[in-house]
Amino acid sequence: MKIIQLTDTHLMPSGNVVNGVDPEKQLRAAAADILAKHADADLLVITGDLCNYGDPEAYEILRDVLAPMPFPVRMMLGNHDDRPNFIAAFADHPRDENGYIQSFLDTAFGRLLFLDSHESGVIGGIFGEDRMAFLDTALEGAGDQPVTVFIHHPPMDCGIAHFERIGMHDDGKIMKRLAAHPAGVRHIVFGHIHVPLAGTSAEGIAFSSGQACSHRFITDLDDPAPLWTGGNPCYRIINLDAQGLRAYGAEVGEIVTARAPVCEGP
Ligand SMILES: [Fe+2]
Repeated sequence: MKIIQLTDTHLMPSGNVVNGVDPEKQLRAAAADILAKHADADLLVITGDLCNYGDPEAYEILRDVLAPMPFPVRMMLGNHDDRPNFIAAFADHPRDENGYIQSFLDTAFGRLLFLDSHESGVIGGIFGEDRMAFLDTALEGAGDQPVTVFIHHPPMDCGIAHFERIGMHDDGKIMKRLAAHPAGVRHIVFGHIHVPLAGTSAEGIAFSSGQACSHRFITDLDDPAPLWTGGNPCYRIINLDAQGLRAYGAEVGEIVTARAPVCEGP
Protein backbone atom coordinates (compact mmCIF):
# COMPACT_ATOMS: atom_id res chain seq x y z
CA MET A 1 0.00 0.00 0.00
CA LYS A 2 1.40 3.36 -1.03
CA ILE A 3 0.49 6.35 1.13
CA ILE A 4 1.67 9.88 0.33
CA GLN A 5 2.10 12.19 3.31
CA LEU A 6 2.07 15.96 3.06
CA THR A 7 2.35 18.00 6.22
CA ASP A 8 2.26 21.58 7.48
CA THR A 9 1.20 23.18 4.24
CA HIS A 10 0.21 26.42 6.10
CA LEU A 11 -1.88 27.79 3.24
CA MET A 12 -2.82 31.45 3.16
CA PRO A 13 -4.98 33.40 0.72
CA SER A 14 -3.09 33.63 -2.60
CA GLY A 15 -0.02 35.85 -2.72
CA ASN A 16 0.74 35.78 1.00
CA VAL A 17 4.08 34.67 2.36
CA VAL A 18 4.58 32.88 5.70
CA ASN A 19 7.99 33.16 7.32
CA GLY A 20 9.54 33.97 3.95
CA VAL A 21 7.88 31.16 2.00
CA ASP A 22 4.86 31.18 -0.35
CA PRO A 23 2.88 28.18 0.93
CA GLU A 24 0.56 27.95 -2.08
CA LYS A 25 3.49 27.84 -4.49
CA GLN A 26 5.13 25.13 -2.39
CA LEU A 27 2.00 22.99 -2.21
CA ARG A 28 1.10 23.34 -5.89
CA ALA A 29 4.60 22.19 -6.85
CA ALA A 30 4.44 19.23 -4.46
CA ALA A 31 0.95 18.30 -5.67
CA ALA A 32 2.05 18.41 -9.33
CA ASP A 33 4.97 16.11 -8.52
CA ILE A 34 2.71 13.72 -6.62
CA LEU A 35 0.29 13.60 -9.53
CA ALA A 36 3.10 13.02 -12.03
CA LYS A 37 4.90 10.31 -10.04
CA HIS A 38 2.39 8.77 -7.65
CA ALA A 39 -0.99 8.67 -9.33
CA ASP A 40 -0.96 5.00 -8.31
CA ALA A 41 -0.98 5.88 -4.59
CA ASP A 42 -3.72 4.34 -2.46
CA LEU A 43 -4.11 7.30 -0.13
CA LEU A 44 -2.93 10.85 0.51
CA VAL A 45 -2.72 12.00 4.13
CA ILE A 46 -2.11 15.59 5.17
CA THR A 47 -1.06 15.68 8.79
CA GLY A 48 -2.27 19.10 9.80
CA ASP A 49 -1.59 22.80 9.77
CA LEU A 50 -3.36 22.69 6.45
CA CYS A 51 -3.83 26.47 6.63
CA ASN A 52 -1.87 29.09 8.54
CA TYR A 53 -4.84 31.01 9.96
CA GLY A 54 -7.69 28.73 8.94
CA ASP A 55 -9.04 31.24 6.40
CA PRO A 56 -11.93 30.05 4.20
CA GLU A 57 -10.00 31.32 1.14
CA ALA A 58 -7.04 29.13 2.10
CA TYR A 59 -9.23 26.01 2.46
CA GLU A 60 -10.62 26.84 -0.99
CA ILE A 61 -7.07 26.72 -2.39
CA LEU A 62 -6.67 23.32 -0.74
CA ARG A 63 -9.90 22.10 -2.33
CA ASP A 64 -8.61 23.25 -5.70
CA VAL A 65 -5.24 21.52 -5.22
CA LEU A 66 -6.87 18.27 -4.14
CA ALA A 67 -9.58 18.21 -6.82
CA PRO A 68 -7.49 16.32 -9.44
CA MET A 69 -6.10 13.76 -6.97
CA PRO A 70 -7.23 10.32 -8.16
CA PHE A 71 -6.96 8.65 -4.73
CA PRO A 72 -8.73 9.11 -1.37
CA VAL A 73 -7.51 11.92 0.90
CA ARG A 74 -7.59 12.04 4.72
CA MET A 75 -6.69 15.26 6.45
CA MET A 76 -5.90 16.03 10.06
CA LEU A 77 -6.19 19.39 11.75
CA GLY A 78 -3.21 21.15 13.31
CA ASN A 79 -3.06 24.01 15.78
CA HIS A 80 -3.14 26.54 12.92
CA ASP A 81 -6.38 25.16 11.48
CA ASP A 82 -9.99 26.15 12.08
CA ARG A 83 -12.41 23.24 12.51
CA PRO A 84 -15.64 25.07 11.47
CA ASN A 85 -13.97 26.54 8.38
CA PHE A 86 -12.46 23.14 7.52
CA ILE A 87 -15.86 21.46 7.82
CA ALA A 88 -17.45 24.21 5.71
CA ALA A 89 -14.91 23.51 2.95
CA PHE A 90 -14.82 19.71 3.30
CA ALA A 91 -18.33 18.81 4.45
CA ASP A 92 -17.95 15.20 3.28
CA HIS A 93 -14.65 14.54 5.03
CA PRO A 94 -15.03 11.76 7.64
CA ARG A 95 -15.43 12.86 11.26
CA ASP A 96 -16.47 11.20 14.50
CA GLU A 97 -19.82 11.46 16.27
CA ASN A 98 -18.61 14.47 18.27
CA GLY A 99 -17.55 16.39 15.16
CA TYR A 100 -13.80 15.84 15.54
CA ILE A 101 -11.91 15.13 12.32
CA GLN A 102 -11.19 11.55 13.37
CA SER A 103 -11.75 8.35 11.45
CA PHE A 104 -10.21 4.99 10.63
CA LEU A 105 -9.63 2.99 7.49
CA ASP A 106 -9.17 -0.78 7.35
CA THR A 107 -6.57 -2.05 4.90
CA ALA A 108 -4.91 -5.36 4.06
CA PHE A 109 -2.07 -4.25 6.37
CA GLY A 110 -3.98 -3.15 9.42
CA ARG A 111 -6.20 -0.33 10.55
CA LEU A 112 -5.16 3.27 9.87
CA LEU A 113 -6.23 5.72 12.57
CA PHE A 114 -6.57 9.44 11.85
CA LEU A 115 -6.73 11.47 15.07
CA ASP A 116 -7.69 15.08 15.78
CA SER A 117 -5.49 16.90 18.32
CA HIS A 118 -6.59 20.44 17.35
CA GLU A 119 -8.07 22.72 20.00
CA SER A 120 -8.94 26.30 19.10
CA GLY A 121 -6.60 28.81 20.74
CA VAL A 122 -4.10 26.16 21.91
CA ILE A 123 -0.74 25.63 20.19
CA GLY A 124 -0.11 22.25 21.76
CA GLY A 125 -2.28 19.20 21.20
CA ILE A 126 -5.43 18.39 23.18
CA PHE A 127 -6.94 14.90 23.32
CA GLY A 128 -9.64 14.79 25.99
CA GLU A 129 -11.98 12.03 27.14
CA ASP A 130 -14.35 12.38 24.20
CA ARG A 131 -11.55 11.94 21.68
CA MET A 132 -10.00 9.15 23.76
CA ALA A 133 -13.35 7.33 23.66
CA PHE A 134 -13.09 7.31 19.85
CA LEU A 135 -9.55 5.94 20.07
CA ASP A 136 -10.67 3.23 22.51
CA THR A 137 -13.49 2.12 20.23
CA ALA A 138 -11.28 2.23 17.12
CA LEU A 139 -8.59 0.12 18.81
CA GLU A 140 -11.09 -2.38 20.15
CA GLY A 141 -12.61 -2.62 16.67
CA ALA A 142 -9.16 -3.24 15.18
CA GLY A 143 -9.07 -6.56 17.06
CA ASP A 144 -6.08 -8.57 15.89
CA GLN A 145 -5.03 -6.01 13.27
CA PRO A 146 -2.02 -3.77 13.91
CA VAL A 147 -2.69 -0.05 13.66
CA THR A 148 -0.85 2.85 12.05
CA VAL A 149 -1.58 6.25 13.54
CA PHE A 150 -1.70 9.64 11.80
CA ILE A 151 -1.93 12.77 13.94
CA HIS A 152 -0.68 16.36 13.81
CA HIS A 153 0.94 16.69 17.24
CA PRO A 154 3.56 14.11 18.21
CA PRO A 155 2.16 12.27 21.22
CA MET A 156 5.65 11.81 22.69
CA ASP A 157 8.44 14.18 23.70
CA CYS A 158 10.49 15.10 20.62
CA GLY A 159 13.46 16.53 22.50
CA ILE A 160 13.33 19.88 20.69
CA ALA A 161 13.38 22.96 22.93
CA HIS A 162 11.01 25.00 20.76
CA PHE A 163 8.29 22.36 21.19
CA GLU A 164 8.84 21.63 24.86
CA ARG A 165 5.70 23.46 25.97
CA ILE A 166 3.62 23.09 22.81
CA GLY A 167 3.58 19.32 22.44
CA MET A 168 0.70 16.98 23.24
CA HIS A 169 -0.91 17.97 26.53
CA ASP A 170 -2.25 14.54 27.45
CA ASP A 171 0.16 13.27 30.13
CA GLY A 172 1.18 10.39 27.86
CA LYS A 173 -2.33 8.90 27.68
CA ILE A 174 -2.35 8.37 23.92
CA MET A 175 0.96 6.46 24.01
CA LYS A 176 -0.19 4.37 26.96
CA ARG A 177 -3.44 3.47 25.22
CA LEU A 178 -1.69 2.64 21.93
CA ALA A 179 0.90 0.50 23.72
CA ALA A 180 -1.94 -1.57 25.20
CA HIS A 181 -3.21 -2.57 21.74
CA PRO A 182 -2.37 -6.30 21.62
CA ALA A 183 -1.82 -6.46 17.84
CA GLY A 184 0.73 -3.64 18.00
CA VAL A 185 1.33 -0.25 16.42
CA ARG A 186 3.21 -0.22 13.12
CA HIS A 187 4.09 3.47 13.31
CA ILE A 188 2.95 6.92 14.42
CA VAL A 189 3.14 9.47 11.61
CA PHE A 190 2.91 13.16 12.53
CA GLY A 191 3.76 16.74 11.57
CA HIS A 192 3.87 19.87 13.76
CA ILE A 193 7.65 20.02 14.25
CA HIS A 194 8.36 20.95 10.59
CA VAL A 195 11.63 18.96 10.48
CA PRO A 196 12.19 15.26 9.75
CA LEU A 197 12.50 13.11 12.87
CA ALA A 198 12.49 9.33 13.36
CA GLY A 199 12.59 7.46 16.63
CA THR A 200 11.22 4.83 18.97
CA SER A 201 9.18 5.70 22.05
CA ALA A 202 9.71 4.42 25.57
CA GLU A 203 6.88 1.97 24.83
CA GLY A 204 8.82 0.62 21.84
CA ILE A 205 6.61 2.25 19.23
CA ALA A 206 8.27 3.61 16.08
CA PHE A 207 7.42 7.13 15.00
CA SER A 208 8.45 9.76 12.48
CA SER A 209 7.51 13.19 11.18
CA GLY A 210 7.33 14.53 7.68
CA GLN A 211 9.21 17.70 6.77
CA ALA A 212 6.92 20.72 6.37
CA CYS A 213 5.99 21.47 2.77
CA SER A 214 6.10 25.19 3.59
CA HIS A 215 8.59 26.93 5.91
CA ARG A 216 10.75 24.78 8.16
CA PHE A 217 13.35 25.21 10.88
CA ILE A 218 17.08 25.13 10.62
CA THR A 219 17.30 22.15 12.95
CA ASP A 220 18.43 23.26 16.40
CA LEU A 221 17.51 21.08 19.35
CA ASP A 222 18.40 23.61 22.04
CA ASP A 223 17.29 27.03 20.76
CA PRO A 224 13.74 27.78 22.00
CA ALA A 225 13.40 30.29 19.12
CA PRO A 226 15.11 28.58 16.16
CA LEU A 227 15.45 30.18 12.73
CA TRP A 228 12.93 29.61 9.97
CA THR A 229 14.11 28.71 6.50
CA GLY A 230 12.63 27.74 3.15
CA GLY A 231 13.45 24.75 1.00
CA ASN A 232 12.16 22.54 -1.75
CA PRO A 233 8.50 21.57 -1.70
CA CYS A 234 8.41 18.10 -0.19
CA TYR A 235 6.31 15.11 0.84
CA ARG A 236 6.86 11.53 1.94
CA ILE A 237 6.20 8.21 0.27
CA ILE A 238 5.07 5.68 2.85
CA ASN A 239 4.94 2.02 1.94
CA LEU A 240 2.88 -0.16 4.21
CA ASP A 241 2.87 -3.87 3.48
CA ALA A 242 3.48 -7.30 4.98
CA GLN A 243 7.07 -6.30 5.85
CA GLY A 244 5.97 -3.30 7.89
CA LEU A 245 6.25 0.42 7.15
CA ARG A 246 8.91 2.46 5.40
CA ALA A 247 8.80 6.23 4.87
CA TYR A 248 10.88 8.02 2.23
CA GLY A 249 11.40 11.76 2.00
CA ALA A 250 10.85 13.25 -1.47
CA GLU A 251 11.71 16.77 -2.60
CA VAL A 252 10.66 18.65 -5.72
CA GLY A 253 13.12 20.63 -7.81
CA GLU A 254 16.35 19.02 -6.76
CA ILE A 255 19.30 19.68 -9.06
CA VAL A 256 20.39 16.57 -10.95
CA THR A 257 24.19 16.16 -10.94
CA ALA A 258 24.57 12.74 -12.60
CA ARG A 259 22.78 9.42 -12.99
CA ALA A 260 23.84 6.60 -10.66
CA PRO A 261 24.85 3.27 -12.23
CA VAL A 262 22.70 0.17 -11.96
CA CYS A 263 24.37 -1.88 -9.19
CA GLU A 264 24.16 -5.62 -9.80
CA GLY A 265 27.07 -7.09 -7.92
CA PRO A 266 27.33 -8.53 -4.43
FE1 LIG B 1 3.01 23.76 11.37
